[in-house]
Amino acid sequence: MAQTSRDNWEKEWQELKSSAISSLLSAQSLDDLEKARLDYLGRKGSLTLLLKGLKDLPMEDKRRLGPESNKLKTDFQATLEKRKTELESAKTAADIAQTAIDLSLPARPQPRGRIHPITSVMREMTGILSRLGFSYADGPNVETEHYNFEMLNIPADHPARDMQDTFYLDGFTPSLLMRTHTSPVQIRHMETHQPPIRIMAPGRVFRHEAVDASHSAVFHQIEGLYVDKDVSMADLKGTLDVFIKGLFGARTKSRLRASFFPFTEPSVEVDVQCLLCGGDGCPACKQGGWMEMLGAGIVNSKVLRAMNIDPQVYSGFAFGIGVERIAMLRLGIPDIRMFYENDVRFLEQFG
Ligand code: PHE
Repeated sequence: MAQTSRDNWEKEWQELKSSAISSLLSAQSLDDLEKARLDYLGRKGSLTLLLKGLKDLPMEDKRRLGPESNKLKTDFQATLEKRKTELESAKTAADIAQTAIDLSLPARPQPRGRIHPITSVMREMTGILSRLGFSYADGPNVETEHYNFEMLNIPADHPARDMQDTFYLDGFTPSLLMRTHTSPVQIRHMETHQPPIRIMAPGRVFRHEAVDASHSAVFHQIEGLYVDKDVSMADLKGTLDVFIKGLFGARTKSRLRASFFPFTEPSVEVDVQCLLCGGDGCPACKQGGWMEMLGAGIVNSKVLRAMNIDPQVYSGFAFGIGVERIAMLRLGIPDIRMFYENDVRFLEQFG
């Protein structure tokens, strides 16, 4: 090899040694880096060409420069990888910074659901009863005449069976109806349980009624049933007194008034001294000073006997309370229909 080309080689080599690695280190993007790679190690890259020219050098130069230039190639490749990783993670970090969510932004207000006033009053009522030892029971909304009427000693010609009052489902034999009260749950429970029995059964009931400010075709009741040895009217009175005082306050006065239900004997209705006028007489109590609250009585021995519970050994009381009237009084709501219109301006005020 001529002296000049050897000198050239040596000169280029010195240049490359100082520029190759620094061109990688100064690359500011993956594109820059790729360009530097091609400049040096591409098919026509200067390092590639230089290494090719190595074979034309005299033996002693080859010995000296061969390992050195191979080392440069390895160093170059290692630096290339390292810089590539750096630039890639910088790019990822930049991408994230661009699309990141600003965690310091205030949240958009989310509309919050609330407990319906009927549900919350019902929970309050069942809460008191459960502290008195009543446990939860339930039954279907669609009933048979057997459970809704017959087993409750309501004969076929009883006015409660009147088509005016009961929603029957079309096209079923035996007929199906929407339960008119929660009392069928008493029967369903006694069918499968022996005394002692102490249950409460909250739920929906249905009556074919003209709807107005105080009547709705769908409303809620809570049924109570207590059957054990020696259960008396005094137990009923005491239980309901605690219940009413728990709901309306310790000074609330209540009274029992003789009434009639086919499934209780004797039967009573329970009145509460008017919660609005305190008994003086006002439109809410129709000037009478008392408000009718619920129906109750001693479980009719006919009902017990049909359930295979011996009325010589056991006795019980039952009661049924309408929830809406109580909720209206507790919350000062003048019209029962407001419960079902689902106007959020109304619902928002509760729970
Ligand atoms: N089921 C009766 C009604 O809906 C209420 C009631 C229940 C009366 C239990 C006495 C005993 O009117």
